[in-house]
Amino acid sequence: MPLDWSPTGPDLVAQGDNLDLLPRLPDAAFRLVYLDPPFNTGRVQERQRMQVVRSADGDRTGFAGTRYETLRLQAATFDDRFTDYWAFLEPRLIQAHRLLDERGTLYLHLDYREAHYAKVLLDGLFGRENFLNEIIWAYDYGARAQHRWPAKHDTILVYVKDRRRYHFDAQAVDREPYMAPGLVTAEKAERGKLPTDVWWHTIVSPTGNEKTGYPTQKPVGVLRRIIGASTEPGDWVLDPFAGSGTTGAAARALGRRFVLMDESAAAVEVIRGRLPGVEAV
Ligand SMILES: C[S@@+](CC[C@H](N)C(=O)[O-])C[C@H]1O[C@@H](n2cnc3c(N)ncnc32)[C@H](O)[C@@H]1O
Repeated sequence: MPLDWSPTGPDLVAQGDNLDLLPRLPDAAFRLVYLDPPFNTGRVQERQRMQVVRSADGDRTGFAGTRYETLRLQAATFDDRFTDYWAFLEPRLIQAHRLLDERGTLYLHLDYREAHYAKVLLDGLFGRENFLNEIIWAYDYGARAQHRWPAKHDTILVYVKDRRRYHFDAQAVDREPYMAPGLVTAEKAERGKLPTDVWWHTIVSPTGNEKTGYPTQKPVGVLRRIIGASTEPGDWVLDPFAGSGTTGAAARALGRRFVLMDESAAAVEVIRGRLPGVEAV
């Protein structure tokens, strides 16, 4: 059954598993899809490894009366969890690709440990020539590891549906201060510079106005930049892992339309509080 959504209808938040909801939307309906999936959501499959060893106390008897015992080794959970994670993500990325229009862009927000595998998967799905950027969102917050370089960034992979047609407007986003304003003219320093693929942006402040209390909330400033550059006013934006609804908040502020999805009732409640009047299905 199609989802009760129309390009001329209201913005929407839908509660449910996005793999059930996404196929109910029509092809090429969105200019932008932003995905911020949770890490390792896939069902954890604990594959028990066994080893049979000789043992005087063994409960099995083999050739020439030798006794054997079966040992249960530590479960090999890491590989299974990893495989399950990609089995979880891949069908959702296939849907995201289907739902993008010919000028559309996908932003996949990941942990640095996953990003390289996602790159290989998305190269296959979108075509390597449609890979636009790897954005590094750098922040500086929280404890610092002493035994390695503290990891203080997320990776956002950017793919376009069609390299020859996609929408991108670098001038539509906030400019940044120059790192060394003394090296450019006063006029340039005043205007600021266009952002690069490395974005310095604070996390959502634990005490600021933006905070909703939702644990994985992303800063609205990061979503403003994504939506500002890759869509135009009136375009439709889709976020299948909406959480606290940051994508909806940025889209609304910029005059874009949105469909948000989340399986959690708590997330939908936060979204309805944050985006008054949004239609919930
Ligand atoms: C990392 S959070 C997203 C945070 C969001 N970007 C924000 O700024 O608040 C991931 C979200 O995906 C949701 N989620 C996980 N699996 C899902 C699924 N199969 N279908 C829909 N939502 C899912 C979780 O409930 C969680 O809210």
